[in-house]
Parts: sequence; C-alpha cells; structure tokens
Amino acid sequence: MKDFISIDKCSSQQLQKLLDLSSELKGLYKAGGRDLSLAGKTLVMLFEKPSLRTRISFEVAMTNLGGSAIYVKPEDIGGIGKREPIKDMARVLSRYADGIMARTFEHSTVIELAEYSTVPVINALTDWLHPCQAMADVLTISEHCGRIEGIKIAFIGDGNNVARSLCFGCAKLGMKISIASPSGYELDEKSVQTANQISADTVTRTNNPIEAVAGADIIYTDTWVSMGMESEKQKRLKDFEGFQVDGELLKSASGKVKVMHCLPAHRGDEISDEVIESENSIVFDQAENRLHFQRALLKKLMEK
Ligand code: CP
Ligand code: NVA
Repeated sequence: MKDFISIDKCSSQQLQKLLDLSSELKGLYKAGGRDLSLAGKTLVMLFEKPSLRTRISFEVAMTNLGGSAIYVKPEDIGGIGKREPIKDMARVLSRYADGIMARTFEHSTVIELAEYSTVPVINALTDWLHPCQAMADVLTISEHCGRIEGIKIAFIGDGNNVARSLCFGCAKLGMKISIASPSGYELDEKSVQTANQISADTVTRTNNPIEAVAGADIIYTDTWVSMGMESEKQKRLKDFEGFQVDGELLKSASGKVKVMHCLPAHRGDEISDEVIESENSIVFDQAENRLHFQRALLKKLMEK
C-alpha cells in the first residue's frame, strides 16, 4: 500500500489493521506515551479548499510522530497544475518530502499526484471522496457500538464525497448503509454498484428519511452544500427541505441511535441544534478520531 486514495482500493485486512493501529496509538498517546517513528520526516499538505479538522489533525499527527508538516495553499505555488504540470510537482515534492497529502477539487489531481510521486500520497478530500473521514468514522462506530460487523447506518442528505466513502467503508468492513436523499441528489449508481459488488446489499437508496432511519444504529449527515457548490446554495436549501436530522426524525429511530456528522455543521439546515447538542450526538468523538486514524495512517505509509 503506497498511497491512501480510496477505500475501495484497499483490502479489508489492510483497513482493519489501520483501525487496530489507530486504537493502539490512541491508547498509547492517552496514557502519555509517545511513538517517534517519523522523526525527521516531512509531510507536504496541499489544500485547494478550506479545512479545520483535516489540516490541524494531520499536522498534530506528524508532530506527535516526531516529524513535521508544511501547509501549502495553491496561491503560494501559483495554483495546482497551473504554474507547472501536476506530474512535475509530484516528482519535485518527492525529492524533498516523505509524504504528500492533498485536498483538491478534482479527484484526478490526487490520482495524478500519486501516479508520479515516489512518496505516499494521501487523499484529504476531493469532490469525489473523503476516505480519511470515513475511516475515522468507522473507528468511532466501533468504539461507541462495541463492534462494526452488522451495524446499520442511515445517511440523510446529499449523495456526496462523504456518503460515497462511507459506502466503500461499509462494504469492506461488514456494515450496511441506507442513504436517504431528495430526488436528483442520490448517490450515483456506479458507486452503489461498486460497494454492492464488494459486499452484496451494502447500500440501499431511498427518498424517505423515515424509511432510512428505521432500525439504524447510526444516523449520519453532512452539509447540503459541499465546498465548491456555493453557487447552488439557495436551490439546494430548498431541494433538501424535509431532510433535516431533527428531533422529529429521531423519534422514528431507536432511542439508542448515535448521531454523526463529519463537520462543519450547519445548524438549522442539515441538522438541528437540539440534535447535535443531544446525548445521541457523538460528533466530537468523531472529530477527535480524525487525529487517531491519521496518526496510524501516516505511521503505516511513511515509516520505512
Ligand atoms: N470533516 C472535515 O474534513 O473537516 P475540515 O473540512 O475542517 O477538514
Ligand atoms: N461534503 C463536504 C465535506 C466537508 C468535510 C464537502 O465536500 O464540503
């Protein structure tokens, strides 16, 4: 495993090992221990979009492991693929750094970086996928539910990058996911097929949130307006009416249901303030686990 771009390209065993290492290092760090296995190593972090969690948790993870991280905005380097070809950037950065992490609009940018770099490339979100988020989410589910196998997730909202990565994570790790989206915003058929070919009946789609949450262990939501879609905001707010994760929807689920959101959250849109602040909500444990999963991922990919 050189890169971490898409969960569907990893084996279940690789993913399970990453989760195990995440828990092990989480325990070590919580107990005050340290693992300096990336001492002297550098991660370059390219960001075409804003970030709180991803940027800070990757930087902290590198520092924790004894290494360092360099944050690069497109304007610092004349744009990704603009001042020079992506394939040249990938080869130059490989001569300086021990790893590259990138958050880009086009998924093909991350693919091309990986193709031409000789160091590991990590997908820190593209328009298509958000694999680090999904793996941190699985870690959170395993901690809160005591298992992964057989868990049922109800994803309420846009069939977007986060939903797609969750589907692949579910397929590889034995969970089921029902995605409720308004008409026109469903997860694409090909991604559903990919997940269901990995493991039959992993993903189902519906236009009815109440149907999705029946029997769910987890209710998950994400923004209705992903980064780069700001011009569609007004239309989307209207089209997603009735898809808010609120107290009323929770009444159709089990009282023990856990509520997740990758954050940033838009209270009053995809989730109500009441629900995100409720006892069912595990969103901050979920956010914390970005650090624990990524620390394990960096160690696994960059320790040589
Ligand atoms: N969840 C997530 O990726 O958050 P950021 O956009 O703040 O990194
Ligand atoms: N779907 C969201 C996730 C943000 C972490 C976006 O792409 O903006």
